[in-house]
Formats: sequence, structure tokens, C-alpha cells
Amino acid sequence: MSTLWSDHIASLVPYVPGEQARIPNLLKLNTNENPYGPSPKAIEAMRAALSDDMRLYPDYQAQGLRGTIARRFGLTPGQVFLGNGSDEILAHVFNAFFLRGGRPLWLPDVTYSFYKTYCRLYDVPHRLIPLDEEFVLRAGDYTRPADPEPAGIIFANPNAPTGRALSLDEIAAIARAHPDSAVVVDEAYVDFGAESAAALIGECPNILVIHTLSKSRSLAGLRVGYALGQADLIAGLTRVKDSFNSYPLDRVALAGAQAAIEDEAWFDRTRRAVIEAREQLARDLGDLGFDVLPSQANFVFARHPGRDAAAIAASLRETGILVRHFRSPRIDQHLRITVGTPEQCARLCAALRALPPA
Ligand SMILES: Cc1ncc(COP(=O)(O)O)c(C=O)c1O
Repeated sequence: MSTLWSDHIASLVPYVPGEQARIPNLLKLNTNENPYGPSPKAIEAMRAALSDDMRLYPDYQAQGLRGTIARRFGLTPGQVFLGNGSDEILAHVFNAFFLRGGRPLWLPDVTYSFYKTYCRLYDVPHRLIPLDEEFVLRAGDYTRPADPEPAGIIFANPNAPTGRALSLDEIAAIARAHPDSAVVVDEAYVDFGAESAAALIGECPNILVIHTLSKSRSLAGLRVGYALGQADLIAGLTRVKDSFNSYPLDRVALAGAQAAIEDEAWFDRTRRAVIEAREQLARDLGDLGFDVLPSQANFVFARHPGRDAAAIAASLRETGILVRHFRSPRIDQHLRITVGTPEQCARLCAALRALPPA
């Protein structure tokens, strides 16, 4: 703490990412990274980008990458926004859409915890809406009229850390119920089994969909995310970006992201492998006595009725396996476990089997 800090900095509670430990024989199942590497074509494109051209600024409009993403979703480049990871896009979203005359942002009580961090950073008034006892987001809680109407609504779909997903009909109903609110659907995990609300953009002008290359494209280290929405929403984000940093994506990231998105075969093979491993892991954890929520993501959310979650995480850590435990209300007896390769999942289950009796 320093007397030189701006007034609001002292009261910030920054987001704490999952541990990036340096321990021998590490198995990292704590930050939902993809166990398979990125597309070899993406690596090749990044190598090629490391040329004398690095002395030049990148295209601040990123026309090549935006065009590629637009084509994939049947949109126009003006309906695509890029950011340095989806976290950066989320920060711009909070700034661009959720500060409207004191109207609250609505969000689930259990969801990606960075949303609350951005609420504090930008001083966004908000209302937490509890998920039901099974951690399901009840669409009906979000379709009721309210006075004041929310400035916006944000949730992850599939939700994190629960892995549970809403249907497109439910998302459309929420968006239609609040036409004067930005409805932001964070689809960081959508490629592992949910349907993308990108299909709703034509009919719902208030929907903004956010994707990341960190999960299904195995490029967490590259920091690339994108948002999809009607052109006036994208223009709002662009105004914020261009008032902050006109060049959030460097030349290497632009090249790697474009090649990764173009490599549909690699994308499909690796995400299918993760989905298969997830189903097996859920069955194996069930056999070990865990209650496992149905997941559409690249992680499972599980609790053991007879064991303390923090103690399990600590014991696993001693064997070199990291899983995520949140000391948060309602979920402090759960673990969020990233799906690894079948071999990695087998190692996790063997370590759980070998735990000393509770
Ligand atoms: C729901 C959700 N949204 C966004 C992100 C951030 O992703 P990125 O790596 O693109 O910043 C994460 C990362 O774990 C996430 O879980």
C-alpha cells in the first residue's frame, strides 16, 4: 500500500488466477488449459511472423483475423471485435455497456469470479442472482421485467466453474425480455458441448458473445479472444479499445490465431478427445464416490460427500497434481478439475484412490 496510489486502488480485490506452480512431475488440472498442443499450423504461422516486419505496428483493425472469424460464423468483420484474451474484452465490456445511470448488472452468484472483480474496478452496481440448488441458472429468474431494468446481464455458458449450460431458447428468452440491456454470453467453453449464441445475433441486437482461443484452440499462452455482436455493440467496444490501446494484438498473435481458427481438423480432433475424456473422468469420479455435475465444458465440478474439498486439493498437490478449489460461499466443498488426456485423468484417479481414509 502506498500513499501515491489513486484513491480507488486500495479497495480493489484483484482476481487470483489458478496457481502456475513449478513442482516436479506436475499435472496441471487447475486452470482449464487444453492438454493437447495448439495446431501445428498455428505454430508454423507464428514462426513465419517473426520476421523483419516485427519493426512495424500490427494492423490495428486486424482485418485478416476478423475476416476469418466473421466467415466462420456467417457474420461481417464489423460484427467481430478482438482482444488480448477474453479477459481484456470483458474489461472493455464492463466499461462500454454496464455503466448506465446506476442501473444494475445482473449476474449469477456462482460464476466466473472475474466479473465481480470488474464490477469493483469500474464501480458497476450489480445484483447477484442465485443459481438453483443443482447450480442451474434458471432462465426464468432473468426474464422478469424489473424497475430499473438491468444495464446488462452477464453469464458464462457453459457456466464456470459449474460446467452447466443453458439452451439457445433460454438465452433468446432472456435477451428478448430485456431489449434495452446488453446480454453478454461468455462462451469460453462452448466448443466442448454447448450451442453458441452467435446464432442469435441476427435476431437479438442486444446479445454479445465472447470467445477465447485459450481453451478449445489450446492457445492460452497467446492471449487472444474475440467478441461477436451487431455492429453498434462492436463499435462501442472499439471506442473503448481505441481509447485504451489501439494495438492489443501483436503480429505473432494475429498470425497464430488466424491459422489456429482455419485449422478446423485439429480443432475438431482435439475437442472431441477432451469431450470423450471428460465423460470417462466423470464416470471414474462417480465410481470413487464423488458427486459430479453434468458438464459441457473442459472441466468437471465435483464434491465428495465424505471428504473436505480443500484437504483433497492439498493431498493431490503433494503428489504433484493441481486442481482448483474456491474458498467461496456455496462451492467451498467442490473441486473444479480440468479434463486432461486419458493418461492424465487416470493418474488423477489413481491419486484419489490412494488418498488416506478420511
Ligand atoms: C468463463 C471464462 N471466461 C473468460 C476466461 C478468460 O479467458 P482468456 O484466457 O481468454 O482471458 C476464462 C478463463 O479461465 C473463463 O473461465
